[in-house]
Amino acid sequence: MQGNVSWQSPSNIALIKYWGKHGRQLPRNASISFTLSNCISTTEVEYDTGAGTFSVEFNFEGQRNDAFGSRIGKFLLSIVDKLPWIEQSAFKIASKNSFPHSSGIASSASAMSAMAMCLVDIDAQIQEMSYLDIPLASELSRLGSGSASRSVIPQLGVWGECHIEDASDDYAIPYADQVDPVFHTFHDDILIVSASEKSVSSSAGHQLMDQSVFAAARYALANDRLLALTSAMQTGDLDTFGSIVEDEALTLHGLMMCSEPSFALLEPNTLNLINAIRTYRSETNIPVYFTLDAGPNIHLLYPDSFSKQVSKWRDEVLIHFCENQRIITDQVGHGPKKLY
Ligand code: DP6
Repeated sequence: MQGNVSWQSPSNIALIKYWGKHGRQLPRNASISFTLSNCISTTEVEYDTGAGTFSVEFNFEGQRNDAFGSRIGKFLLSIVDKLPWIEQSAFKIASKNSFPHSSGIASSASAMSAMAMCLVDIDAQIQEMSYLDIPLASELSRLGSGSASRSVIPQLGVWGECHIEDASDDYAIPYADQVDPVFHTFHDDILIVSASEKSVSSSAGHQLMDQSVFAAARYALANDRLLALTSAMQTGDLDTFGSIVEDEALTLHGLMMCSEPSFALLEPNTLNLINAIRTYRSETNIPVYFTLDAGPNIHLLYPDSFSKQVSKWRDEVLIHFCENQRIITDQVGHGPKKLY
């Protein structure tokens, strides 16, 4: 079978973080994230499943990229147990991101989930299925990059076994229906403190958790926090939501700084922004909170009903702590979209 498919898929921002893994990309603790809407990857796959031998050609942002191509090739061959037709197929893949390459935004979640959606779509055509297997798409995304498992889920995804029925280490499940609708309206403005490449990759960070003296306590704490966070989200308790999300972001970076060897991804302006956010919140009572990814950039989280006040303050005050005054505005979104 020959054809073309194309999918867009978003990045996501974790509220309870995945940090530590084992086996075949399985999480040490459960995580939950907002699926975003503007930070997306668009991937097109031209395929010939009857080629007889496996080959991949990869274009990134309009240019042939053999380094990425060989990584994608390895990933594809690593999942032939899930999709056996891959082994005999020729692929021409083109991918691009809506956000600038060096914006400090992790692209693995959007890129791997867009790729996984294309593969599951091709598989559905081969099997003559009239629906897409979203748990399989999430599982394939996970095998590409753990956090990508959550990007195929609209609005709010949970990945990893926990108190939630049906939650799995293999794939993410939807959680948006269980929470107060205020959380469907959340904004995530990404305040770019630095767009430089990270000094330590997420993969290396996950590995350091294996030797961390805090490992057992961390994994237990993450699951306890997930329980407390989901209860707060069910009742629309914004104060509790914000305090757990901020503690969790600082814990992630605390773990990095306390690992062996230690590393720090926070920058002085990350802390300046955190202080500015806390001061503004205590002065105005506006529910605006921060979280962090594995990098120095602040993710500013707030409900849409406060967007007028928050965006004014953001553009007058916070922007001065951002590299080249750069801010990427985003919002909770609806997950992957098929283009053709
Ligand atoms: C801090 O999913 O990028 O963003 O599975 O090795 O590809 P790999 O790691 P990755 O780790 C993400 C870590 C995080 C937290 C999170 O998104 O849950």
